[in-house]
Amino acid sequence: MSQELWTAVDNYIVHKMLPADESLDQAVRASEEAGLPSIQVSPAQGKFLYMLAKVHRAKRILEIGTLGGYSTIWLARALPEDGRLITMEIDPKHAAVAQSNLDREGVSNKVELLVGNALDLLPKLEKRNESPFDLSFIDADKVSIPAYFESALRMSRSGSLILVDNVVRNGAVADAGSHDPSVQGVQKLNDMIAGDSRVTATVLQTVGVKGYDGLAIALVN
Ligand code: SAH
Ligand code: DHB
Ligand code: MG
Repeated sequence: MSQELWTAVDNYIVHKMLPADESLDQAVRASEEAGLPSIQVSPAQGKFLYMLAKVHRAKRILEIGTLGGYSTIWLARALPEDGRLITMEIDPKHAAVAQSNLDREGVSNKVELLVGNALDLLPKLEKRNESPFDLSFIDADKVSIPAYFESALRMSRSGSLILVDNVVRNGAVADAGSHDPSVQGVQKLNDMIAGDSRVTATVLQTVGVKGYDGLAIALVN
């Protein structure tokens, strides 16, 4: 089993299941041209996020970590006409590229892009006291995952979904002695939710163009 094989199969899946999409392709191109890191969810993962939001009939979505807005577009597409998505991005350059991608996609009316450190933005958002988020997608820095998860949980309702990207990290998550702060962030999340009566959670391991990683899925009880 190798990266080469995972990539080949991922390309096969995308070829079969995902019709050509000029808007998403353009979003990726614009992000590349602006020099953003190419760490957005893969096309097949983006479609999976879209489908989860659809199945869940999500009307309000929270995203932490926008980058160029690739996952944002997938999630925004799943929203009904009166749906809302709030996304947070610390890097103004990433945010500018994302805003232009969201404008081009025609979803800016549904999406509010907040620029700043999510650790500062989330408490402010909690104070806004908006209706709870049906779905939260946590995909920013990995060190603060536990804090993001607690905040997302406070802004959830019974039945809300909280998704956390990159929780397997090439298998490093199973290394109890890891000194990598990002791995420790993920491990803390798992410790938190393992015996937590507030959520029902599992982790899906994934392979593909982005290597070997995983997505945590928590359903709020
Ligand atoms: N969700 C995106 C990828 C996000 S990559 C997609 O799949 O298309 C992670 C992003 O989180 C980067 O753009 C990074 O700048 C941002 N980020 C990192 N730390 C952050 C923080 N503390 N607050 C908000 N955003 C942060
Ligand atoms: C990284 C971050 C991500 O959100 C991701 O999906 C892949 C890689 C990173 O920081 O390296
Ligand atoms: Mg990610």
